Amino acid sequence: MKSSDSSLDHLWFPFTCSQDLSDFPPRVITRGEGLYLYDREGRRYLDAIGSWWVSILGHRHPRINAAVGRQLDKLEHVLMAGFVSDAALNLSTSLAAMLPPGLTRIFYSDDGSTAVEAALKIALQYWAARGRRRTAFVSLGGGYHGDTLGAMSVGNIPAYHSLFHDTFKSQLYTDAPYCYRCPCGRNKASCNAECMESLERILAAKGETIAACVFEPMLQGAGGMRVYPAKVLNRLFAACKAYGVLTIADEVATGFGRTGKLFACEHAGVTPDIMCVAKGLTGGYLPMAATVAREEIYAEFCGDYSSNRELTHGHTFTGNPLAAAAACETLAILREEGIPQSLATKSALLASKLESCREIEEVGDVRVLGMIGALELVADRRTKRPFAPEKRIGFKLARKALDKGLLLRPLGDVVYFVPAYIITEDEICTMIDTARDSIKDALHE
Ligand SMILES: Cc1ncc(COP(=O)(O)O)c(C=O)c1O
Repeated sequence: MKSSDSSLDHLWFPFTCSQDLSDFPPRVITRGEGLYLYDREGRRYLDAIGSWWVSILGHRHPRINAAVGRQLDKLEHVLMAGFVSDAALNLSTSLAAMLPPGLTRIFYSDDGSTAVEAALKIALQYWAARGRRRTAFVSLGGGYHGDTLGAMSVGNIPAYHSLFHDTFKSQLYTDAPYCYRCPCGRNKASCNAECMESLERILAAKGETIAACVFEPMLQGAGGMRVYPAKVLNRLFAACKAYGVLTIADEVATGFGRTGKLFACEHAGVTPDIMCVAKGLTGGYLPMAATVAREEIYAEFCGDYSSNRELTHGHTFTGNPLAAAAACETLAILREEGIPQSLATKSALLASKLESCREIEEVGDVRVLGMIGALELVADRRTKRPFAPEKRIGFKLARKALDKGLLLRPLGDVVYFVPAYIITEDEICTMIDTARDSIKDALHE
């Protein structure tokens, strides 16, 4: 399909319907500053989703700009085998100081999906090194861990995964911790994390074959911004411990203060065996991810040449110095600004503004955790009946919002907000008021 702008004819966009692309050509962004993006026509957009969660400190942050500039003048890249840049070394020291106690070893890769791939391989190789055949994974229903095949095998969103599960590999999945539509018929008051009984059953039947349990702590992002209570994590950890199954926390979206704690697992007071981080790590500047592990896990990868124990995984750009410099500065800013503690007032305001959206009859659920907010829109609030997908309410309201200078990217009919932490209280009000107006416009179209 040819577009009116011939410069688009060579591009293949992710998660984008080609018809939409020709009906609504993408806005070409030429500049960013703080919370805002500017297109080539000079229009300004409030980036309510931090350009897919990465821009945690805002666009073109002066300190990160300067740090990347300094690194550019020294070294752009060096392989990380037999060599390491001083930037990657410095980053390991700062990141290690921030990690939950017990997580000490840092393996760099390029993005969230590859961080998950590395975690899965580490778990498999760990068990092989211990002479055990544990080759399966269990993950949470409704989870998302990236788009590479291994990461997809532990994902469980039918629209994204079913075609590929049939063709390649699918793993084991628990019930989804989707509180608004609880699979166990519980509510907030009666919940005792019953959705994790499904995990307990899987482990009772197959625990000896399972290498690890993979999960997004506290919030399932791409699955529909589903916030779930810490007790689910506590029950998950207890079950995994009972069967000696490793825990892999995918903090790609939730890490670095987003949920109101530095890492989401802290809400439940638990530390996983392996943790994946990416997205906000470089402040949104350059692709970089890390898979971090406990020392006991790393110990299984140590030995002399004949033991053949080294991790058989690596990426060309592993530990890239420019990305490491951006990440180091991002972590310094988080530390110095006391994030996430300093975000409590903004989070409370986000929550109260979103609550006020319940005045719209079609707002079925309001979910907030730290600097994450979401509204689930439904056709019938009483029965929770969703809109017919072809109504495309989420898509329509995002178009309305864009015309009002607000960048949203709803997941189906779930509208969500993950702005940069620098957002002011006035801007939070503007963001939610504009979204509320856009929802009303889309519903009444
Ligand atoms: C929880 C989670 N894991 C993994 C990924 C994949 O990250 P990336 O898109 O950087 O590969 C994402 C991306 O949204 C995510 O939300």
